[in-house]
Amino acid sequence: MKSSTKGVYTFPGNKEKFDLLEKKNEEAIKGGGEVRIEAQHKKGKLTARERIHLLLDEGTFQEIDRFVMHRSKDFGLDKEYYLGDGVVTGYGEINGRLTYVFSQDFTVFGGSLSETHAEKICKIMDMAMKNGAPVIGLNDSGGARIQEGVKSLAGYADIFYRNTLASGVVPQLSGIMGPCAGGAVYSPAITDFILMVEDTSYMFVTGPSVVRTVTQEKVTAEELGGASAHGTKSGVTHFSCENEVECIKRIKEILSYIPQNCEDNPPHLPYTLKEDESREILNDIIPENPNHPYDMREVVQGIVDEGSFLEVHENFADNIVVGFARIAGKSVGVVGNQPQSLAGVLDNHASVKAARFVRFCDCFNIPLLVLVDVPGFLPGTDQEWNGIITNGAKLLYAFSEATVPRITVITRKAYGGAYDVMNSKHIGADLNFAWPTAEIAVMGAKGASEIIFRKEIAQAEDPEAKLQEKVDDYTERFANPYRAAHRGFIDEVILPSETREKLIRGFKMLSNKVDKLPRKKHGNIPL
Ligand code: HXC
Repeated sequence: MKSSTKGVYTFPGNKEKFDLLEKKNEEAIKGGGEVRIEAQHKKGKLTARERIHLLLDEGTFQEIDRFVMHRSKDFGLDKEYYLGDGVVTGYGEINGRLTYVFSQDFTVFGGSLSETHAEKICKIMDMAMKNGAPVIGLNDSGGARIQEGVKSLAGYADIFYRNTLASGVVPQLSGIMGPCAGGAVYSPAITDFILMVEDTSYMFVTGPSVVRTVTQEKVTAEELGGASAHGTKSGVTHFSCENEVECIKRIKEILSYIPQNCEDNPPHLPYTLKEDESREILNDIIPENPNHPYDMREVVQGIVDEGSFLEVHENFADNIVVGFARIAGKSVGVVGNQPQSLAGVLDNHASVKAARFVRFCDCFNIPLLVLVDVPGFLPGTDQEWNGIITNGAKLLYAFSEATVPRITVITRKAYGGAYDVMNSKHIGADLNFAWPTAEIAVMGAKGASEIIFRKEIAQAEDPEAKLQEKVDDYTERFANPYRAAHRGFIDEVILPSETREKLIRGFKMLSNKVDKLPRKKHGNIPL
């Protein structure tokens, strides 16, 4: 009764049906065929299935809708079908945790989005929402399936709508592995993190030829919307990756810090507390001269678990540093002013970058560690005309509404409005520490003295000496953490070397924190 190399058939009549399934599976796996797969590889790109294979734990991928086909008849589509219709969808595991994935197949109609292609994506997004797990989208598409017209546009809108509903419910990550143009960019844009691959991916609302017609600018696709442009100039992408393998590794790394959904807690690694968690190296970071720069990343690395810092938006708005890290095995979101870039000042880009990161952490129960060394907001017409008032308010709003555990460490300057904004006690921070080098004041001593003693300095026999006298007096009175500590605005002044230990204990103390915002439909963050 043996009738197949693959198995034993009790009823030989079924063999044909089983063989048909196998044939269809083989056909679907080929996507747009060998020639197009080869063309994809020649561009230095992987196929949709190869990407999924790299992303998910071995043998865990369960494909859904492998046999879906488009329903179009126009422009020759009645004669051209591919099983799966240009997108591979399903679920599997990443480091043992459930994850939903869709991966666009450029070998089928250039990965273009048809009505059915969109339905497949929507189906797994709906499943992810119901079952509380992240959605990873691997984008590689020529955009709307041109032959389908409005049905394709409707499909996009169905996805955008779900991206919005899923926002803050389950994490959504977008890997851009090829073209992503026109309105198609708005799905990744709504998701939590975008990762782009250098030289083989691009994102723009209108491509180089339209740009040329409308604005007469000559620009290549890479210059206009490649990983480097969006990683440094626009901030659209959070990560620029050297190649696809790197990109997929990064996606997995991000997931290791974040929970499955908004009701879940972030995963944590086992950690045994050492008897002494002090880090002496931190005592040597702040220069004696308060106007000299230092690298806030060194402070972060000195505080968190070794090698655990994953920086987000590394090359965009580098006057502020944001990223994930672990403290005693537990995830935290780190936000720190960066004195080595623009003296760590808050400007439009830095404010928006940090605000979005703070909101992500708050959505997904990731405690916040805020490191402050900020001389204020950046002055100037460029900043004012580009909305520093509204953008600075975004960061203020984001911190103020965050209900996760929040700890601040002021390492040096905390001046003016930026002191309030950077997770001060007054806007709901739980624990506020300051190093002895902290200066918490309305502004720097020189600027302050020039304003309040202007007449006295002008009338002095030696104005420079007078100014210095006033600066010294102001410095002694205000350029320290103790005025704020007298009022309880700072809970404790600590040595830099003690910081890690204080944070371990602080976050542990806050681990059952319950905080609620007033009942509302939703807030109205200044956009
Ligand atoms: C149908 C498409 C397609 C599309 C590409 N193909 N884009 N089929 N609809 N949008 C097909 C091609 O016909 C070709 O089929 C195969 O995919 C590969 O395309 P190539 O051009 O050979 O590849 P390449 O040289 O790498 O160029 C890729 C590309 C180019 C830059 C993406 O294909 C292109 O410019 N496509 C059109 C992009 C576009 O204008 N899309 C509509 C944007 S508007 P064969 O059979 O030869 O393999 C939009 C609105 C969204 O998306 C709105 C949402 C709200």
